Amino acid sequence: MFDTLTRRWLVIGAIALASPLSWAQTAPIIIKFSHVVAPNTPKGAAADFFAQRAAVLSKGRVKVQVYPNSQLYKDKEELEALQLGAVQMLAPSLSKFGPMGIKEFDVFDLPYIFPDKRALHTITAGPVGRKLLSKLEPKGLVGLAYWDNGFKIMTANTPIRQPTDMKGLKVRIQSSKALEAQMRALGAIPQVMAFSEVYQALQTGVVDGTENTPSNIYTQKTHEVQRYGALTNHGYIGYAVIVNKKFWDGLPPDIRSVLAQAMKEATQRNDVIAQKDNDAAIVAMKASGKIQLHMLTDQERQAWIKQLKPVHKMIASRVGAGLIQEIYAALERRH
Ligand code: LMR
Repeated sequence: MFDTLTRRWLVIGAIALASPLSWAQTAPIIIKFSHVVAPNTPKGAAADFFAQRAAVLSKGRVKVQVYPNSQLYKDKEELEALQLGAVQMLAPSLSKFGPMGIKEFDVFDLPYIFPDKRALHTITAGPVGRKLLSKLEPKGLVGLAYWDNGFKIMTANTPIRQPTDMKGLKVRIQSSKALEAQMRALGAIPQVMAFSEVYQALQTGVVDGTENTPSNIYTQKTHEVQRYGALTNHGYIGYAVIVNKKFWDGLPPDIRSVLAQAMKEATQRNDVIAQKDNDAAIVAMKASGKIQLHMLTDQERQAWIKQLKPVHKMIASRVGAGLIQEIYAALERRH
């Protein structure tokens, strides 16, 4: 009934159907990694590097597909997509966990809580950092690492030097209650908005100003629609790299350790790039002539600190006064 060639194909097909496991084993494990920033940012570069290392270390068994620039999902949607398993990995900023009910993460948004990155790393690498990541598990997520971006600056279309210069400005913030309190403490009007919508909102005057890291401001071309900025360094933006727990727990153990190694390497690289990118972005924005960036005098900086430090108390009942004290104490112990 069948000629030799057809019979041969039928045999191959039958073998394939009879051993679905061997086919499944050879198909690469796909990890969709979605994020909202440009590829040439610390997070963008680190995600791409993680993808490369995961491919090399797993000898091709893992394929990480990176989707930058909110291409797949915006801020809030990407977290929902991760919980549903539509993507497997994200690196949202720490400010984005509050709306999921993990209010303690708002502590990272407290103005002037971390004097510098070393102080911040003491916390993220220590018991507080681990405790916070463990709070992701009941939400179906596993926290693999913290990635730096950097300290934020303020921008607007009117000069900013003193905290009083923020009065009455409509300012875009991420969805964090600490950031909301911070803007109110400045007399500004906070407007929660997805990252992908900020440029247009500034361009059309829906908001007057924003806060972000120099690298985010530069790569989003925010400096082209904002005339003034102040290097306030009043708060931090960093990320938690997270995976869907069910997906992670279902991976073969050897793949999990390969990915952990790739993540370790990507984290180290991220933190080096973050500093360089933010420094370079300030230089590039100044050179563009499009925005005037003001470096605070010591006196001005003290005025910002004085105006914003009370936010710690205002937000204590939300994040837990104990957590804030734990951070103060850990930072104190370094001296
Ligand atoms: C923002 O929304 O401003 C940032 O969280 C974007 C990012 O991921 O750095």
